[in-house]
Amino acid sequence: MTRILTVPTQPIDGQKPGTSGLRKKTKIFMGPHYLENFTQSVFDAIGGVAGKTLIVGGDGRYFNDRAVQVILRMAAAGGAARVIVGQGGLLSTPAASNLIRKRGADGGVILSASHNPGGIDEDFGMKYNGANGGPAPESVTDQIYARTQDLREYRILETEDLDLSRLGETRLAETVVEIVDPVADYAKLMGELFDFDAIRNLFTGGFTMRFDAMHAVTGPYAKAILEGILGAPEGTVVNGTPSPDFGGGHPDPNPVWAKALMDEMFAKDAPDFGAASDGDGDRNMIVGRGIYVTPSDSLAVLAANATLAPAYAKGLSGIARSMPTSRAADRVAEKLGIEIHETPTGWKFFGNLLDAGRVTICGEESAGTGSDHVREKDGLWAVLLWLNILARRIEPVSQIMAAHWSEFGRNYYSRHDYEAVPVERANALVQRLRDITPDLPGQQFQGMTVASADDFAYHDPVDGSVSRNQGIRISFTDGSRVVMRLSGTGTEGATLRVYLERFEPDASRHDLPVDEALAPVIAAAEEIALIREFTGRNAPDVIT
Ligand code: G6P
Ligand code: ZN
Repeated sequence: MTRILTVPTQPIDGQKPGTSGLRKKTKIFMGPHYLENFTQSVFDAIGGVAGKTLIVGGDGRYFNDRAVQVILRMAAAGGAARVIVGQGGLLSTPAASNLIRKRGADGGVILSASHNPGGIDEDFGMKYNGANGGPAPESVTDQIYARTQDLREYRILETEDLDLSRLGETRLAETVVEIVDPVADYAKLMGELFDFDAIRNLFTGGFTMRFDAMHAVTGPYAKAILEGILGAPEGTVVNGTPSPDFGGGHPDPNPVWAKALMDEMFAKDAPDFGAASDGDGDRNMIVGRGIYVTPSDSLAVLAANATLAPAYAKGLSGIARSMPTSRAADRVAEKLGIEIHETPTGWKFFGNLLDAGRVTICGEESAGTGSDHVREKDGLWAVLLWLNILARRIEPVSQIMAAHWSEFGRNYYSRHDYEAVPVERANALVQRLRDITPDLPGQQFQGMTVASADDFAYHDPVDGSVSRNQGIRISFTDGSRVVMRLSGTGTEGATLRVYLERFEPDASRHDLPVDEALAPVIAAAEEIALIREFTGRNAPDVIT
């Protein structure tokens, strides 16, 4: 017996989607009507789901399974034609993006709080992606938010839970629910993009790798693709079973949170190649034996070598990077004679460029890399492109990096984060910077002369929209640069991010410790922004 209930409700405050959907503490999402209100608001904002096809899945964190059941019943109550769900309610973010595109769906609901910890006392999230497979643009998320503020009722089917473990089609009222293997279509896509034979031969030849899935969603994907299809030995993938609280850790692939992998890669018997990805599988970390590859350098190396992979053999149409990402990729674009785009922080800004065919590869300093194959950043994609390159070049990562730097020069790079700074102090620092920016050009700091300074405004070349106040950029005549902006994803106070970059063309100076190479730039940032004075801190909380 099933019937549709119309449940009276009240608007709930604060259901405003941020950079990447609505993210809240899990307990808030579990509160009365919270998930239902937001789901109904999404459905209403997109003009209802009647007759539509939706993709639904998440990263397996605590409450994922319950949320999927509710969303399915609400989609059925709304008259959706078909809902395609990953088995067990699982789908990595890039795999969801791929399914939306491949199945010609109208959109998808992704349940994740990305790299934030999971569990009943941690974070949960939900976002809506459109028919191109990418995150809904601001115009849509604004409508969703507006709907949350005047919602009076939602509709839900009263019925028993579905068994999400059973593959195949079943029905909820008039809606076909199709439970699919979350990995299959994604693995097929990867097989189309990359030279799997070459990678298989690499592993057959004794190449060793460690992939740390960080107890998150890429475990099943990495096991199926690396250990299954590509023949890497069992044990190549560690922490490969998704757990609702990610083993109690932070599923964020950087040297701080993936310390175990870093330690292994810097030990005596390190594997040839190491990689990790985050909670929902869109971020990545790359590390060679004894060498960490920054996301900015990774973007540059992937772009410079992309033609070694079948999907990119014809060359790239262009490269895009977020503004604070180092300019290493710009040098590659210049040499290749292709477009380079500098966008604000946030993957959504790449969408128009990708849809318009202006760029093929994109990347961000925050560990995101991807291409036009989906409309999300894609952790495993980056790892597989690296493997494809390694399989064709047969050189250690360290040698590839050295060769890259000697060809293009090295952009030494680091990010300093000051977390949980009182909001007024952080705002005051930024306001003062905005005020002094026009006067900076020509001034000298630490022996470096400011060439240009501005508060970055992005003019989208595809739709003509303008996004202002995206961060202060200060460039020096020697190619060094300081960028400062406030994080858009922090949860406590304000997070000041200081991005430091110094260009070194001389190959005999490519082996310096990063903090040493950046010392003058770090000192100049302090001199210009008075970071200590404004934040009251003597040093950053996190250095990546
Ligand atoms: C998320 C977004 C990225 C962004 C990152 C850092 O992961 O998907 O596009 O680069 O957050 O943002 P923040 O504003 O905290 O620097
Ligand atoms: Zn993520």
